[in-house]
Amino acid sequence: MTIIKNHTSEIMKGKICMITGANSGIGKATAIGLAKMGATIVMVCRNKKKGEKALEDIKKESNNGKVNLSIADLSTQEAIHQLVKDFKERYQYLHVLINNAGVNLSKRVLTEDGIETTFAVNYLAPYLLSNLLLDILQTSSPARIVNVASSVIAKSINFENLNGEKHYRQLNAYGQSKLALILFTYEFARRIEGMGVTINCLHPGYVKTNMIRNFRKFVKYFFPFIGLFMKSPKKGAKTSIYLASSPEIQGVSGKYFKKRKEVELAEVSYDQEIVKRLWNVSVDLTNHDVERKKVFS
Ligand SMILES: NC(=O)c1ccc[n+]([C@@H]2O[C@H](COP(=O)([O-])OP(=O)(O)OC[C@H]3O[C@@H](n4cnc5c(N)ncnc54)[C@H](OP(=O)(O)O)[C@@H]3O)[C@@H](O)[C@H]2O)c1
Repeated sequence: MTIIKNHTSEIMKGKICMITGANSGIGKATAIGLAKMGATIVMVCRNKKKGEKALEDIKKESNNGKVNLSIADLSTQEAIHQLVKDFKERYQYLHVLINNAGVNLSKRVLTEDGIETTFAVNYLAPYLLSNLLLDILQTSSPARIVNVASSVIAKSINFENLNGEKHYRQLNAYGQSKLALILFTYEFARRIEGMGVTINCLHPGYVKTNMIRNFRKFVKYFFPFIGLFMKSPKKGAKTSIYLASSPEIQGVSGKYFKKRKEVELAEVSYDQEIVKRLWNVSVDLTNHDVERKKVFS
């Protein structure tokens, strides 16, 4: 009898992948996809109960027992530092970091650190996590960072209202946080070039997930209809999985992808003045800079 082996099935064997927001939607589907390829998955979730339930589902659906759970609320920087500390105590390597967790909040809510939550979770958490994990990613080289961004991006970043202190609009706060994530992806790629770690970002498409829960009532009302035209989380996870695992992407860095294809974005995403300002703000807000850590030496 001839056994036909699926070549993609084991390509992530021996690889450790951290996925934030892995208990639902795109993150959970990404975890299942990579676990099916043999990866060891480290799920990062804020809610233990939800995380444990998803962990069992991921193990069952992927038929891979190497799925572990870390609890961290990514809206607080102390939790991010603790997450990284615990991870480094437990693991020697990290091959893939997927910054997937995200929120889209209808109201302005400040985090424990006094930062507007959308900006804190969608942008500052990936910034800080990527910086703090850079050394272990470098040790595990070739390693990859994948940032789940969006195609909903703001026209610019309003540094005078970054914390929503003057006014808060849901779509703008979300679009601004995703633009910041894209700008960070390009800039970080430039700063870590040659270190054996790549970083890319993506738009997953419009995907039927829990993201809707914080939308205004009228959007929720139409959701059953709109939802008919949205992708399943499994389809929405395809580009994340591709960027995390495909040999085609080896060495590719600082790019934005849609449907597994590289796409050029509006000029604002490459604006060096905005990047410089954003980097300085990020260093101030997190007290962490890649160059300060001397990771280049
Ligand atoms: N769905 C779309 O159409 C779409 C389009 C473009 C981009 N995206 C992006 O795709 C990513 C995944 O979203 P999704 O659509 O799959 O929505 P989702 O099902 O709501 O997943 C979001 C995940 O992020 C987690 N999360 C939120 N705040 C957190 C925090 N403070 N600490 C730790 N984890 C936190 C959530 O945990 P809880 O379950 O505990 O809340 C959940 O696991 C997001 O970055 C989103 O912006 C989605």
